[in-house]
Amino acid sequence: MSLPGYLKGDSKLASSPITRDAFQAMQEAALFGEDDVKALRASRPILEPQVDQILDVWYGFVGSKPFLLKQFSHPDSGQPDPEYLGRVRARFGQWILDTADAQYDEDWLRWQFEIGRRHHRVGKNLTDAAVSTALIPFRYLLPLAQPIVQTLRPFLERTGGPTKTVDAMQDAWRKSVLLQVTLWSYPYVIAGDF
Ligand code: HEM
Repeated sequence: MSLPGYLKGDSKLASSPITRDAFQAMQEAALFGEDDVKALRASRPILEPQVDQILDVWYGFVGSKPFLLKQFSHPDSGQPDPEYLGRVRARFGQWILDTADAQYDEDWLRWQFEIGRRHHRVGKNLTDAAVSTALIPFRYLLPLAQPIVQTLRPFLERTGGPTKTVDAMQDAWRKSVLLQVTLWSYPYVIAGDF
């Protein structure tokens, strides 16, 4: 994989502090099951040709909120960093496909914890050698799931599938994003309390 900074499956990644069994319990808590895996997989061919347009919408949202855009900007001048935005955007596109592919193996879990670190001060900016804010404040992490899942809807609807099918795909995405953002919260939680 030649995408700069993309490390899913890379042996350099630390092992996941959450076991697959523990993640399984999290999935059960979110009512995430086999039907959701199927719905996510079904969403992939629909979303793949639209990745750029989806990213335009999501980046448009982040760009329209100064407190979000700040996290891609210089800490003193407040000037957004187009290179940082661009490099993260490319990996964000890959994340859309990875979420739809729904592999919940050890590699996937390790990569989740790395993405979490990249939002927190332990890992933010390092991948792209960016000069920006030290961390994404936790208070924004979970709420951003809402615009992401909400704005995905018209893209899921584009093939004209029945409402029931689109509902199932959107529900699966909602659960998957909720579970992933929960994993990403790990470095924000007091040691031992996750
Ligand atoms: C549901 C919530 C969120 C999702 C699904 C999400 C998704 C992602 C993804 C997929 C990446 C790329 C990871 C990689 O491959 O390196 C990323 C990185 C990033 N996200 Fe988020 N994110 C969320 C919340 C937020 C919030 C609230 C902000 C605030 C603006 C934010 C700002 C960033 C930044 C600055 C990076 C780059 C971090 C670095 O490596 O320096 N994210 N996010």
